[in-house]
Amino acid sequence: MHTNTSSERQILVTSALPYANGSIHLGYMLETIQSDIWVRFQKLRLISCYHICGTDAHGTPIMIRAQKEQITPEALVQRLNQEQKQDLHDFHIAFDQFYTTHSPENQELANAIYAKLKTNGDIVTKTIEQAYDPIENMFLPDRFVKGNCPKCGAPDQYGDNCEACGATYAPTELKNPVSSLSGATPVLKKTDHAFFKLEHYSEKLKNWTQNGHLHSAISNKLGEWFEAGLKSWDITRDAPYFGFPIPGLVDKYFYVWLDAPIGYMASFKHFCDKNALDFNAYWRQDSTAELYHFIGKDIVYFHALFWPAMLMGANFRTPTAIFAHGFLTINGQKMSKSRGTFITARQYLNHLHPDYLRYYFAAKLSSGIDDIDLNFQDFIQRVNADLINKFVNIGSRLGAILTKQFEGKLSAHLDKPELYDQFVQQAQSIALGFETREYHKAIREIMALADIANQYIDQEKPWALIKNPETHDKAQAVCTLGLNLFKILATYLKPVVPSLVLKIEAFFNQGELNWENLAEPILNKTLNPFTPLFSRIEAKQVDLMMQEAKTETEITIQPITAPTIEPTIEPIEPLITIDDFSKIDLRVAKIIQAEAIPEADKLLKLTLDIGEGRYRQVFAGIKSAYTPESLLGKFTVMVANLAPRKMRFGLSEGMILAAKSPNESGLYILEPHEGAKPGMRLQ
Ligand code: 2FM
Ligand code: ZN
Repeated sequence: MHTNTSSERQILVTSALPYANGSIHLGYMLETIQSDIWVRFQKLRLISCYHICGTDAHGTPIMIRAQKEQITPEALVQRLNQEQKQDLHDFHIAFDQFYTTHSPENQELANAIYAKLKTNGDIVTKTIEQAYDPIENMFLPDRFVKGNCPKCGAPDQYGDNCEACGATYAPTELKNPVSSLSGATPVLKKTDHAFFKLEHYSEKLKNWTQNGHLHSAISNKLGEWFEAGLKSWDITRDAPYFGFPIPGLVDKYFYVWLDAPIGYMASFKHFCDKNALDFNAYWRQDSTAELYHFIGKDIVYFHALFWPAMLMGANFRTPTAIFAHGFLTINGQKMSKSRGTFITARQYLNHLHPDYLRYYFAAKLSSGIDDIDLNFQDFIQRVNADLINKFVNIGSRLGAILTKQFEGKLSAHLDKPELYDQFVQQAQSIALGFETREYHKAIREIMALADIANQYIDQEKPWALIKNPETHDKAQAVCTLGLNLFKILATYLKPVVPSLVLKIEAFFNQGELNWENLAEPILNKTLNPFTPLFSRIEAKQVDLMMQEAKTETEITIQPITAPTIEPTIEPIEPLITIDDFSKIDLRVAKIIQAEAIPEADKLLKLTLDIGEGRYRQVFAGIKSAYTPESLLGKFTVMVANLAPRKMRFGLSEGMILAAKSPNESGLYILEPHEGAKPGMRLQ
């Protein structure tokens, strides 16, 4: 274990790349706060350490979201990349490079790695059968097929596993499968896919995974996978797909998970090219640089099997270690949109200082893979009690006295050098806590020192000493020692609360605090006037953040409205005003699911896409004129603000418009002109 500062270590750290189809949330902040603290700690010890990340640009969900927004996937990726960069920056995550996997560097590296694997004989082609959406004309990823669980029958389950009984299965086994894109029943279609023969690397991987590169809990889990036997990995996706085309094949793309980890390399390559650094020194097989990947425990399979195997096959070095962490829960439960606990980084930042959360996570993080709970009551209490009352208070109490009474001037000697030394001597042990990612231990030690500093100040009472001219010098000496202890604590906490420590550095006015100048006390210097550093968290800030998270969620997944259409023509009278008319919210809707209600003569159950990720369920009395299949993919017009109506077969959340003559039997749903999009309002 490295705890010294003098070695010639060269370190490269990555954080998992966030997908370009959503905003960064607090779960991802747990990961980047963990990795950022680690990297900042290395930099604080003047060790060469780069932190690399970027947007994970490829895959079906990103393509679909771009289609919905009527923009190109490239434009979506670019926008999300900017947004992610800003969010992370505002949380003080100091990446050396935040790039994107949709880059020329990544394409080149992915092609080169694939070519090498092919030359090795690690790539084989197999014909597979996969679910295909006959309306959207595309193959469906497992997550896009829903149906009844083949084991327990639970409805609305994804194509890979059942959330009700936990069973895992192939999407082809689902009962009554539907495509979540169009609502159509998927058909099975044959297609040729390139596979990576992971099993060629079984022995090497077995050694690698059991040789200290992984936490023991993960090595054990992997042991089970080895027992089950490694299988070839499908690295192909059929067009339409947003990704890199596979060289030499037509209409086939690399699966996003092939080029995503290569994105770590590519992002670093981009950084090296800009900064004249030697990329190969970090990636060649005999590299002595250290390489660490911080990831969530859900993506261990990709990082501990596929990724090292690809690197082995392509003659690159393998990671020094994979650091996996647990999930974030909020108030004891999984983050959930419907509970309003799905909080984005931006929603947090709109109300709270990033260093609060950085501190709280640090106080709870360890090297293990247990989940971390963000309990808001505990968060407020812990941050206020530790960070403000114990730590910041030392600076506030003494800084104010020094500025007012001594014009900011420190004494020439330390009041009790042994106390100062005691604080310095803790450095090794605190460093070990950070280095081994046992941040909670480091924080406990730092706070124990803060308690000692506070006891010293309480005993000496500098505020009383200044009242008597005879003890005036003593007061200055107490402030000097107290502030020097504060300086040491600030150095220890610098990786955790960087913007708070930046203010403290400005107050001390002696340049940057780091591990090298830790032991040197600041004496006989005039400090800048003290200004308040940080305030307590108010419960109201947390409430406002939760409210914002809840409201925004309600807007994006609106809980639907309105009754069935029983198409009858009302008398033309009485007349209504334009204001009356404008009360009716008429929207373009796309029919994405349709099914007959066997017990009802007239009704069809429709699911309507009304744009921006909102869906409505409507029971429409149009069975006599339309079969469910004939409606799939059609556009129509709905009344979107009709009060929901509970019907025998379920809730009807709107009404679609259809034309009918009182005398004739025909019935015609309204269709907007071509080009209209779901969600457009009629006016
Ligand atoms: O699981 C995820 O969110 C992926 N976007 C992580 C990719 S990490 C790396 F392999 F690129
Ligand atoms: Zn089930």
